[in-house]
Amino acid sequence: MRVIEHIQEMQIWSEAEQQPGKRIVLVPTMGFLHEGHLSLVRDGRKRGDRLVVSIFVNPTQFAPQEDFAAYPRDLKRDLELLEREGVDVLFHPSADDMYPQGFQTYLEVEKLGLLLCGGFRSGHFRGVATVVAKLFNIVRPHVAIFGEKDYQQLQIIRRLVRDLDFAVEVLGHPTVREKDGLALSSRNSYLDPGERKAASSLYRSLKQAEGLVRQGERDGSRIVQAVRAEIDKATATRVEYIRLCDPSSLEDIGNIEGEALLALAVWVDKARLIDNVLLRA
Ligand code: PAJ
Repeated sequence: MRVIEHIQEMQIWSEAEQQPGKRIVLVPTMGFLHEGHLSLVRDGRKRGDRLVVSIFVNPTQFAPQEDFAAYPRDLKRDLELLEREGVDVLFHPSADDMYPQGFQTYLEVEKLGLLLCGGFRSGHFRGVATVVAKLFNIVRPHVAIFGEKDYQQLQIIRRLVRDLDFAVEVLGHPTVREKDGLALSSRNSYLDPGERKAASSLYRSLKQAEGLVRQGERDGSRIVQAVRAEIDKATATRVEYIRLCDPSSLEDIGNIEGEALLALAVWVDKARLIDNVLLRA
């Protein structure tokens, strides 16, 4: 596996691979890799001829009071894991190279970026959209893979690709979970054993919502109420939001007809965890 730290070197590599018509796949990450990330990587391996994984803890998607400095990092371990997965290139740029002095151009996906997590993490999706657009311009992938765990992020990236005519096929990948259903996340490392147990209430609550819909419940507020009750039962949890919304526009919906996205963000002590499920009436 080749490790590339410089933007220009990455661009030259990609251009050389594009010449003979190699199909390049990109899996963007912030590192501290877990089985969720690796599942995207394995999928990526099958989707093209060359596989690039990026690791960059992107400062612009963290608000000043958020966990940028504390965000877990372990490059040595990540390198070993990616080497084992047959990744061709690890792109690992520095923040100074990605955001040189004088940097002032940002991408905003207007409506989608303000809903759900956007209402609580001001500037977050602006940072995500900007760095992903930069990664697309640097790596020039034919295909890019993102997890459905970050459903809103995936929708925002699909939107920006359509709106700005990026020649990238965006693929979503199902959420990878622990045995008890907790979605894998680098931030799970913040949880102590008690909090870890409490965190399983997120998935339990989503399964409960699924069960209610299966039994014929269509009233959004009753579903949201049941989800909240399940999470409130666990200690150390604090609900930030629970929303039932349209899976494409992410606008709130009152009753389920067809498909609906149930999305939530919950604090378990210092860890902010998100999860979601698609419900079908
Ligand atoms: P990060 O949180 O490291 O996640 C990288 C990718 O892995 C994202 O597409 C995310 O949705 C996916 N992922 C994380 N946990 C997952 C799980 N349990 N199952 C399936 N996929 C999972 O998301 C980011 O980084 C950043 O915002 C990034 C897109 C790299 C831009 O900085």
